[in-house]
Amino acid sequence: MSSQTPHLVAAAADAPGRAGPLPRLDRLAYGGDYNPEQWPEHVWIEDVELMRTAGVNLVSVGIFSWALLEPTEGNFEFGWLDRLLDLMHDGGIAVDLATPTAAPPAWFRRLHPEARLVDRHGNILGGGARQSFCPSSPGYARASARITGQLARRYADHPALVLWHSHNEYGGVNALCYCETSAAAFRDWLRDRYGELARLNDAWGTTFWGQRYGDWAEIEAPLAAPTAVNPAQQLDFLRFSSDAHLTNFRRERDILHRLSPGVPVTTNFMLANCKTIDYWRWAAEVDVVSNDHYLRAEEPENHIELAMCADLTRAVAGGRPWLLMEHSTSAVNWQPRNIAKRPGELRRNSLGHLARGAEAVLFFQWRAARFGAEKFHSAMLPHGGTGTRVWREVVDLGADLPALEPLRGTRVLADVAMLWDWESWWALELDWRPSVDLDYRERIAAYYERAWRDRLTVDFVHPERALGDYRLVVVPSLYLTTPAAAENLRRYVAGGGTLLVSYFSGIVDADDAVHPGGYPGALRDLLGLTVEEFLPLRAGETVRLGRPGGVVAAAPVPDGWPADPADPTAGTLTGQVWTEAVLPHGAEPVLSYLDGPAAGGPAVTRHRLGAGHAWYVSTRLAADGLARVLRAAYRDAGLVPPGGVPDGVELIRRAGTDGRRFLIAINHGERDAELPASGTDLIDGTFHDGVLRIPAGGVRALRT
Ligand code: GLA
Repeated sequence: MSSQTPHLVAAAADAPGRAGPLPRLDRLAYGGDYNPEQWPEHVWIEDVELMRTAGVNLVSVGIFSWALLEPTEGNFEFGWLDRLLDLMHDGGIAVDLATPTAAPPAWFRRLHPEARLVDRHGNILGGGARQSFCPSSPGYARASARITGQLARRYADHPALVLWHSHNEYGGVNALCYCETSAAAFRDWLRDRYGELARLNDAWGTTFWGQRYGDWAEIEAPLAAPTAVNPAQQLDFLRFSSDAHLTNFRRERDILHRLSPGVPVTTNFMLANCKTIDYWRWAAEVDVVSNDHYLRAEEPENHIELAMCADLTRAVAGGRPWLLMEHSTSAVNWQPRNIAKRPGELRRNSLGHLARGAEAVLFFQWRAARFGAEKFHSAMLPHGGTGTRVWREVVDLGADLPALEPLRGTRVLADVAMLWDWESWWALELDWRPSVDLDYRERIAAYYERAWRDRLTVDFVHPERALGDYRLVVVPSLYLTTPAAAENLRRYVAGGGTLLVSYFSGIVDADDAVHPGGYPGALRDLLGLTVEEFLPLRAGETVRLGRPGGVVAAAPVPDGWPADPADPTAGTLTGQVWTEAVLPHGAEPVLSYLDGPAAGGPAVTRHRLGAGHAWYVSTRLAADGLARVLRAAYRDAGLVPPGGVPDGVELIRRAGTDGRRFLIAINHGERDAELPASGTDLIDGTFHDGVLRIPAGGVRALRT
């Protein structure tokens, strides 16, 4: 069984006269998580004043307030929240009201010892934190439904309320629970999936190591075992666990919909960084997609990862506008070294998300906490108060956002599709794969980065979704490939598309069983080749790639590739981590292995199928080689990366159905940049006539 196909990109994003994602706040939202319970009430008055100064129009409230709202089981105290919501409304600030169910109170833990979270070693995890509960616990289901119902009844008609924020980062830290309750829920889930035990035995391949089950009751959660646990069992446990959290979300959402009709419900996703939640399955369940994103502070050029996560969020949102629920004004507190953002970085990050489809720019958090585990996390209002650089940048951004309203409801124009699949990610990284260096996200990020550097915008797509509109589809590592996905790709290429598939794709089906007939079973005919053997490399080993010895004059020469095959510089392309013995049957070799275990065999191939081409890359190309091969694929696809754009400048194009077009240019470099473009800057109104100048670290948003 494959993932549920996500809802398709809808035209709703730019339908004229549409309501935005927040019908009761129909403008770009600005603000963040607000934890007033950490402060005396006189501070709230100051908060409202300062929020107004900063242009804040939306705050998320009550996310971890369960213990305050229900101090003992069944006894509620809403007085403080009543006063707060009234204050917000009087100040003209809308509220995204949370169900506080990510932080069960201490009394819940004492009354429900059976609901404690258990890790794969059978250890019970402690309290004094948050999200320390079993997602399958019936006691948790009852208690969370009760507080959700109380909040919904009380605040459904409150004029400040514009959005419900269910829970917080489902699956963030308690994604997997291995307790007895979870094991029983897993068995129920398996009964639903397979109906009969014989089908489960078949899907899990339990003839291997004599694992056959004669009774459902014999099935356990995949606890730590003396050796590798059945991979299909592990894969199903991951599916089950994502669904267990989804059941919790649906319960809250349905209560909120019933008692508070007309107010949208969201929950904050962690796209691209949360492996354990299958967001394709979740996407259709929320009224509006919202996402949390934190930079990998120590990584150079981490804005490329930001762009990738924003593009993935837009994909999961089906192309509709989405909300950036959390990001940071400066340093976080939970990375090994919490690097502060440099001046201007906050603005570039926020506008980077906005450019790629966000219609809310929200931060964790409004006011920096004085105590608790996150006291060193940045905020809109730092410990140092309003005399700080961060505060000034927050105020400046808030002042500029209204000028960017024309972007709302317009579509991001993408050039390239890249497949993304949580199930494939899970399966690829199970234990005992052919090399520990196989890494799902690494290849996605590598191909994404190249497209970003070529100023081509990427739409992420579910493997079974129609691809007809894209000129180029990149498949970095689709280890788990369903027959439906393979057929989708075949149809795309036959219809004239250009496909580029990277190694270790098309290998297994949804049960992690190898597709029959030789690798890559699901994609063999499409790629016009068979992989006879995987030939992974040793740690640090590299191989050289060159042009095949005069075999295929017809094969395109990648840009920048020496014309003379004997040119000694031909050895500069390298592969790492992985090689394969590739036997073409229809595909033309474009590059061959010059040394290493696959020496003499094809490394990169191109197969003409119907009206299109399918490229195959059988090694982890280093960045320069990846750039050259991708450029050759662009040529097949008729894609021309925009020229004349200085390094470090990010470009995003948007269009409305009414013909309006926009260009957002973000200069991540330390020098002023110029590029060919004309249009009027939305923020300062200047007209750029043929040459767009973007100051070092600056952002321009042009109506072109
Ligand atoms: C997550 C949580 C927030 C906060 C931030 C800190 O995204 O949702 O409550 O802990 O991280 O970066």
